[in-house]
Amino acid sequence: MGRLNVTLCGIELDNPIIPASGTFGFGYEFAEIYDINCLGTFSFKGTTKEPRLGNPLPRVAECASGMINSVGLQNPGVHKVISDELPKMRKCFHKPVMANISGFSVDEYAYVASALDGEPDIGWFEVNVSCPNVHKGGAVIGSDACASADVVRAVRAVTKKPVIVKLSPNVTDIVSIAKSCEDAGADGISLINTLLGMRIDKRTRRPVIANVMGGFSGPAVFPVAVRMVYQVAHAVGVPVVGMGGVSSAEDVVEMMLAGATAVGVGAANLVDPYACKNIINDLPGVLDKYKIGDIKEIIGGVKNG
Ligand code: SIN
Repeated sequence: MGRLNVTLCGIELDNPIIPASGTFGFGYEFAEIYDINCLGTFSFKGTTKEPRLGNPLPRVAECASGMINSVGLQNPGVHKVISDELPKMRKCFHKPVMANISGFSVDEYAYVASALDGEPDIGWFEVNVSCPNVHKGGAVIGSDACASADVVRAVRAVTKKPVIVKLSPNVTDIVSIAKSCEDAGADGISLINTLLGMRIDKRTRRPVIANVMGGFSGPAVFPVAVRMVYQVAHAVGVPVVGMGGVSSAEDVVEMMLAGATAVGVGAANLVDPYACKNIINDLPGVLDKYKIGDIKEIIGGVKNG
């Protein structure tokens, strides 16, 4: 075991770095430029029961220190993911992968999880109840503690694999939602998804994003993510995957001190496709800088007061 190893819901990772869903495709796209087996794992593109074309264009807006997206869960649907995407993925990634799943009803989440459950490459399910870009399902479910728990329970019933639920920051009380998911059988919590944001074109006076609003991510959201990871990690007994604006090995150490067992990297992959590889390479030097022997020592290690 090296000094970067962590264990996430019973599965060992070579390091805590996990490219976040929606920023890393099915991995093979990035395998063209580097060996993605250096990653802890990655969370693949959010998958729904039916194929989805996503939201109308434009669906990206630039912001200072971040970006807004309104992709709208574009994906080929679970059956094409199984027949076309996973075979390409497994040619270049040889570790357990995280399956990010979405739905528009409790039954759809269960359907997608059940369809994917037999795929041997899938180590964990990441149940996304936090997409801000759809008008049904997504964050509509994730902003309600009972509805989130219903989804967790339904997925839990169709798989023995670890179920990690991905939560939205666009809520008043993140802790009660996280606890309710834990009570419903979640093996882990990942957070944060994007913050709901909006830009306006001053010439046309119209929203920049066709869907009006979208999810804001990037370095600007990092302090919000650290705060929410801290709150949730100190309230639940299951591991937390911390994400939101992480773009350096320094950020990884901070996120783990807040309570994260593993760390998602999202928007940074869109700025620099080598971001995760660079973060992994930089981690030993940053651990040395802070006199940290083994990365596991720092999980939840923030001192209060
Ligand atoms: C999207 O596809 O709209 C992004 C997914 C998400 O934010 O959960």
